[in-house]
Amino acid sequence: MESLRVREENVHIISHPYAQELLTIIRDKSTEYYMFRSILEELGYIIGLEIAKNMDTKEVYAETPLGVKAKGIKIIDKDNVIIINVLRASIPLVNGLLKIFKKARLGFVAAQRLEDKIMFNNEGMKFEIKISYMNIPEIRREDTVIIPDPMIATASTILNTIPLIIKKGEPKRLIVASVIITPEAIRKIKKHYNNVELYTIAVDPELNSKGYIVPGLGDAGDRYTGT
Ligand code: URA
Repeated sequence: MESLRVREENVHIISHPYAQELLTIIRDKSTEYYMFRSILEELGYIIGLEIAKNMDTKEVYAETPLGVKAKGIKIIDKDNVIIINVLRASIPLVNGLLKIFKKARLGFVAAQRLEDKIMFNNEGMKFEIKISYMNIPEIRREDTVIIPDPMIATASTILNTIPLIIKKGEPKRLIVASVIITPEAIRKIKKHYNNVELYTIAVDPELNSKGYIVPGLGDAGDRYTGT
């Protein structure tokens, strides 16, 4: 299986059994939309924890009610985060990430893949993407920008979104967070933006002829909205 061969630098696959169990539940076609949405939100929280684990920390002290100073830490960049809402599929992941990055500033990109505009080139399958709205805050050099997208199949949406984001400034870290990504999408993102860090719960091996991830979980947007 191609997913087993993913050993790229900066690709973080979250193998924690709890995350894997949640993924198994949302893969199941009988899982209802409200459970699907709630689990996506929880996975956003778990991805947020994993991202925070790789942020720099500094030593701080807290004075406890006992009048004693206890040594602790502060995560330096936790408050310098921008999360991009890629409408509509990323909303539950964003809600989960916001539980960790409470002070995150938010950007919005409404991106729709035109299902009847499938193309193929030497990198694989590609969709034309229609961007109908965007509002992205100015990016400072100390910022970590997170782009959540639950299902990264061909990477067409991400590759159309990143240039819009970096026009607003060059962040310290640019992170793409997914629930499922394909090896093809990892290769494309790494080829065009080598410094992008990827966080995902799983890497699924292939796409079907309509650009859906297999085995996947279907259309994440439809499944969490109950459409
Ligand atoms: N988007 C989805 O929601 N599911 C897929 O399988 C591919 C793209």
